[in-house]
Amino acid sequence: MRIAVVGTGYVGLVSGTCFADSGNTVTCLDIDAAKIARLNRGELPIYEPGLEELVKRNVGAGRLAFTTEAAAAIPRAEIVFLAVGTPPAADGSADLSALWRVVESIAPLLAPTAIVVTKSTVPVGTCAGIESRLLAATGRPCRVARNPEFLKEGAAIDDFQKPDRVVVGARTPADAEAMRTLYAPYLRTEHPFLVMSPESAEMTKYVANALLSTKISFINEVANLCERMEADIDDVRRGIGHDGRIGFAFLFPGAGYGGSCFPKDVQALAAMARSKGIVPRVLSAVHDTNLAQKRVLGEKISRHFNDDLQGRRVAVWGLAFKPRTDDIRDAPSLELIDHLLAGGAKVTVHDPEAIDNVRALYGDRIAYVSRPMDALDGADCLAVVTEWGDYRRPDFDDMAARLRGKVIFDGRNLYSPSEMKAKGFVYHCIGKLPVLGG
Ligand SMILES: NC(=O)c1ccc[n+]([C@@H]2O[C@H](COP(=O)([O-])OP(=O)(O)OC[C@H]3O[C@@H](n4cnc5c(N)ncnc54)[C@H](O)[C@@H]3O)[C@@H](O)[C@H]2O)c1
Repeated sequence: MRIAVVGTGYVGLVSGTCFADSGNTVTCLDIDAAKIARLNRGELPIYEPGLEELVKRNVGAGRLAFTTEAAAAIPRAEIVFLAVGTPPAADGSADLSALWRVVESIAPLLAPTAIVVTKSTVPVGTCAGIESRLLAATGRPCRVARNPEFLKEGAAIDDFQKPDRVVVGARTPADAEAMRTLYAPYLRTEHPFLVMSPESAEMTKYVANALLSTKISFINEVANLCERMEADIDDVRRGIGHDGRIGFAFLFPGAGYGGSCFPKDVQALAAMARSKGIVPRVLSAVHDTNLAQKRVLGEKISRHFNDDLQGRRVAVWGLAFKPRTDDIRDAPSLELIDHLLAGGAKVTVHDPEAIDNVRALYGDRIAYVSRPMDALDGADCLAVVTEWGDYRRPDFDDMAARLRGKVIFDGRNLYSPSEMKAKGFVYHCIGKLPVLGG
């Protein structure tokens, strides 16, 4: 098939590349000329494991191209995917201004039989809105469908090529069939292809992200309680997870969830509820709990230093909102860095992939190192914020030698408290009593 993908970000670039890899001819379109120029030079604008090789292979095979010109991408496309950002507006609802601009700009260029498919996460009613805008702009009914994207940054290619399920919201059997044909190469392992109305498909994506966020906020609240009750959250987690109704997934306590999806999607679903006169009590609590959880590490550090961070040197390991990505949108690390800087601390950070994005925000207000251990030299403490593999088994003796204060604040519970105690560290994590050194 000939495909256009509008919006060449984390979702558009991954899905466009994967569709090209299964034999389609794909043109990815973006208004960011610098991003398209980089892609056309063979450079990737984001870090996603395995993506660079896949992009190069498909560009080389003539199946994948990048452009800023809608006229070069849209008229020949049988399917046009919309993958632009849908960030939160001031009231938490999804800001669809980029999406509407795209709809206006592609309308005069669309082939009469083309299907316009939303991959962006969009509120219920967006497909219907696109249908009516396209009807007004073209004077004919246009084919519009919804295909929510469930990929996880850091494992996006695998998720795309081996999806748990593909959800398609379609008005007609013909639209659903076209989508089934497109996804056929990824459905050979019998994973379900679920057809429903566009409205149900729009809802499905928000409900999936809201439920995952709920699990995280729930376990974080319980973890904070465990700490006060002298219980150990990891024991409690094991104690509940073997119950088949509960399970283990997404029940790890931590420094709060971030990224471009969970925070905004929980708020957008809450805004949808409010717009229909439903009070979103659970969703509001999930969001508020997460905002508070993102402050927990900073509060622990302040308490340890008797609310005096002035001149303290703090090393931070992990800036991306999760491992295996360079994405720092809404990352807990940013909340922590802001807190430390506001208190007058000197901050040195490490991350395997996200340094450039963080440097663009903080410039020379913080220091950057390319090896994790170098952040520790002369630091009063270390805060671990993202669970990159690089931080899981460090040389604790080297750490002890480099740190001025042998104090670790672990926002991801990576280390064993008993081992930390044996090594003489003061060790604070989430949901357990702190260890106060050998
Ligand atoms: N990132 C994820 O893991 C993920 C997963 C599932 C769904 N989603 C959803 O997918 C959508 C995109 O997310 P993302 O993370 O890829 O965003 P992103 O910010 O990385 O990419 C969006 C791209 O759209 C481009 N764009 C904006 N306006 C444009 C226009 N008028 N014409 C052409 N391009 C335009 C931007 O320049 C940018 O490159 C969002 O709705 C998001 O909620 C994201």
